[in-house]
Amino acid sequence: MPTYDLYAMDPGDPLWQVPANGAARFSWEYDEGRDRLLALYQKGKDKQWDGQRRIDWDLEVDPYDPLGTPDESLSLYGTRHWAAMTDRDKGELRKHYTSWQFSQFLHGEQGAMVCAARIVESVPDLDAKFYSATQTMDEARHAEIYTRFLHDKIGMVYPVDDNLRSLLGDTLRDSRWDMPYLGMQVLIEGLALAAFGMIRDTTDKPLPKQILAYVMQDEARHVAFGRMALRDYYKQLTDAELREREEFVIEGCYLMRDRLRGVEVLENFGIPRAEAEEYSEQSEFLALFRKLLFSRIVPCVKDIGLWGKRLQQAYVDMGVLEMGDSSLDLLMAQDEEVAEKLDAERFAAEERARVAEVEQAVAEGGAA
Ligand SMILES: [Fe+2]
Ligand SMILES: [Fe+2]
Repeated sequence: MPTYDLYAMDPGDPLWQVPANGAARFSWEYDEGRDRLLALYQKGKDKQWDGQRRIDWDLEVDPYDPLGTPDESLSLYGTRHWAAMTDRDKGELRKHYTSWQFSQFLHGEQGAMVCAARIVESVPDLDAKFYSATQTMDEARHAEIYTRFLHDKIGMVYPVDDNLRSLLGDTLRDSRWDMPYLGMQVLIEGLALAAFGMIRDTTDKPLPKQILAYVMQDEARHVAFGRMALRDYYKQLTDAELREREEFVIEGCYLMRDRLRGVEVLENFGIPRAEAEEYSEQSEFLALFRKLLFSRIVPCVKDIGLWGKRLQQAYVDMGVLEMGDSSLDLLMAQDEEVAEKLDAERFAAEERARVAEVEQAVAEGGAA
């Protein structure tokens, strides 16, 4: 079915064109790759998987409660609107919210694919081009999986959020080759990864859990790539050049914290924008969620060497500075473990079912 039949709101033109600025770069040195980057490229090739097969798409999803989201986590909870809602209305609201959230994941994955392809084109070193080519494929697979989830299991899609679109546009229009890394690998992916993780760890629904766990297993490589490339490059930049990057990060972080809230969902339920914004501001649950969204970005920014005074002050204002001390390596290792454990559990369950089937066949054969 065309996605255009599933949009909850008018998504506008079917094509968005962002004019490109920088240069396409070729390198004629084929044999001087950095060992760590080439090892990551090898891992990127080894760990490709197919979402059509690895994910159990037969699992049913209730579109009116796709994630098992508790009432308290919905921004309308406790308001006068909530009191007037029937169970059916609440189910509708859950459907819209999940659709909005996973639609932003989907559009973000397409953005990641385009940015990874841009990096292939513009980055000067061949080892980074090779790696980014594997990431381009990873992101294509992710976009495919979120599309299938939204089409087949939710049946509703939201257009790309204006603020996500503007951050993507800024990232892609910039002619400096490190900006797609900074805008996409560090900011947008960092934010997405934190959101994926919170849902993966709280949902009791098996299908979204599989999707998120497996996608996150790939994202661990993407973040490692951004860190390696930028850490090396930012060591060579002047203070003024570093400050420019920090400004970009500060602006992007405020934008994502304050503006990416899905108020258009509530507008679809007849609630005026100002009131919708107030609800999302007041919700304690959402305040915590917004803070945790930075758990992957802050340590990454610190790690690549963008840790100037103004940036630190911005993180103090947002109440997320201390997240700079958490270990990204540990978080990434956990992401891989979660996916591997899930595979092991599913394999063991299939094995048990197979053994039970054989035993039953044997018992029936004996009885005959
Ligand atoms: Fe992705
Ligand atoms: Fe990614």
